[in-house]
This record gives sequence, C-alpha cells and structure tokens, in this order.
Amino acid sequence: MALIRLSGISRHYEMGSQLVRALDEVDVEIERNEYVAFVGSSGSGKSTFLNILGCLERPTLGQYYLNGAHVEELDHNQLAEIRNREIGFIFQSFNLLPRANALGNVMQPLVYRRIGYRQRREMATEALRRVGLEDRMDHLPNQLSGGQRQRVAIARALVTRPAILLADEPTGNLDSRTSTEIMYLFDQLHAEGQTLILVTHEEDIARHCGRIVELKDGRIFRDRQRTEAAH
Ligand SMILES: Nc1ncnc2c1ncn2[C@@H]1O[C@H](COP(=O)(O)OP(=O)(O)OP(=O)(O)O)[C@@H](O)[C@H]1O
Ligand SMILES: [Mg+2]
Repeated sequence: MALIRLSGISRHYEMGSQLVRALDEVDVEIERNEYVAFVGSSGSGKSTFLNILGCLERPTLGQYYLNGAHVEELDHNQLAEIRNREIGFIFQSFNLLPRANALGNVMQPLVYRRIGYRQRREMATEALRRVGLEDRMDHLPNQLSGGQRQRVAIARALVTRPAILLADEPTGNLDSRTSTEIMYLFDQLHAEGQTLILVTHEEDIARHCGRIVELKDGRIFRDRQRTEAAH
C-alpha cells in the first residue's frame, strides 16, 4: 500500500461571494522513499497541498490515507499524535523558537513523548550531529547563519524519526551555495531511505528529486519521473 494516498482532495475557501478552489480534486499516491518536488506558479496550491499532507489543514472534500490511517476519521488528539509521529515539517522561514538554543529547539518535539530528559538530549544531539551542527548546539537562532538555522530545523524535523519529511520552499531564504548544501543533505537523507516531499519554485532544486509534480490552479497538471523530466 502507498505511504500516502489522496483521492479527490479539494480545499475550498469562501471569500464573500467568491469560492476559491485552492485545491480541486487532486488524486495522488506517494510510495515509501520517494523524493518528490511539487512545483507550480504562485497561488497554484502548493502550500495548501503540503499543509494537508502534513495534517496542518483539513481538506474540504476527499480522502487522505497516511501510512494506513484514514486521516478524516481521526479526532483532534489522534491527529496531533500522527503529526508528531509520522511527519517532520520544514518551513521557508525556519520557525525556530528564538529563546531556545539549537539543542533546545531540536529537543522540543520530543517533549510530547514519554521519554526522559537525558534520552531526549541524546536524541537531539544525534540529530544535530547528523546535520553537521554538533559544534553549534548552544547557539541561539540569531547566533546562527541562515543555512545553519535551516539545519537546526531539519534536525528538529528528523529527531522524531518521521515517516515523511515535508518541506515548503526550504531554500527560499538561502543563497544559492547554501541552498545546494541543504539539497545535498536532503539527497543523503533520501539515499538512507527517508521519504521526502518538497515544494519549490526553483528548477535547480526540483532537479534533485526523482519525481516532479506540477500543480496549476489547484489541479495536477503534470506528474513526471526525473528521467523523462531531464530535458
Ligand atoms: N486561508 C486562505 N483563505 C483564502 N484563500 C486562501 C487561503 N490560503 C490560500 N488561499 C488561496 O488558495 C490559493 C493557493 O494558495 P497556496 O498558498 O497554496 O499557493 P502556493 O502555490 O503555495 O503559492 P506561493 O508559491 O506563492 O507560495 C491561492 O489563490 C490563495 O489565495
Ligand atoms: Mg506557498
């Protein structure tokens, strides 16, 4: 069974008398260990789609199965648990806690688990080592470069060992060299078996992925494997 299966997923917003179809009957399946980029022009529905995948938003219509669970049927607590267990989310603007150092930020998602402080600290240290930041654990976000902040955010997303890593424009605030470094890190995670789904405007970024899905006006316009997409 596919790790992710969406059928007929729509997200509508009522704006006065106007109905905005941010997503309009999207069907898509994503297997374990796929590396997928969602692309498309501004307003095409990319973030809405990713927020639904990450259970941050609920669809207006349609069915979403995540790792065997039927997401629409989960109550509030079950949804929070599945978010914590299955999903790591990475944002363009990092979304770190400004008053917590790198270690504290990475430990934060583990607070909801029934594990002791010492083990949480060990897991967070390991995740920071994984992204090459073992020597920056005591730094606050504003004492880190943009690329380092995004690495902290990636460590925070990885520390719970989620089934899926979701990233919305993860390199959108980074220069091109730092973007390439972050993409190499994603490439390595993918090679180690991680399932990765990202949203991007940039062709250079999408080219790292094995599959490129293009959204247009809330619908899937094109869905290509990279071998076909290369030209
Ligand atoms: N909370 C909301 N209320 C009303 N309309 C919304 C809301 N969120 C998104 N939309 C609309 O849904 C459409 C899709 O928005 P979305 O943010 O998913 O686009 P996007 O592809 O991520 O764009 P960008 O590349 O600019 O980030 C847009 O037309 C947007 O105006
Ligand atoms: Mg967006």
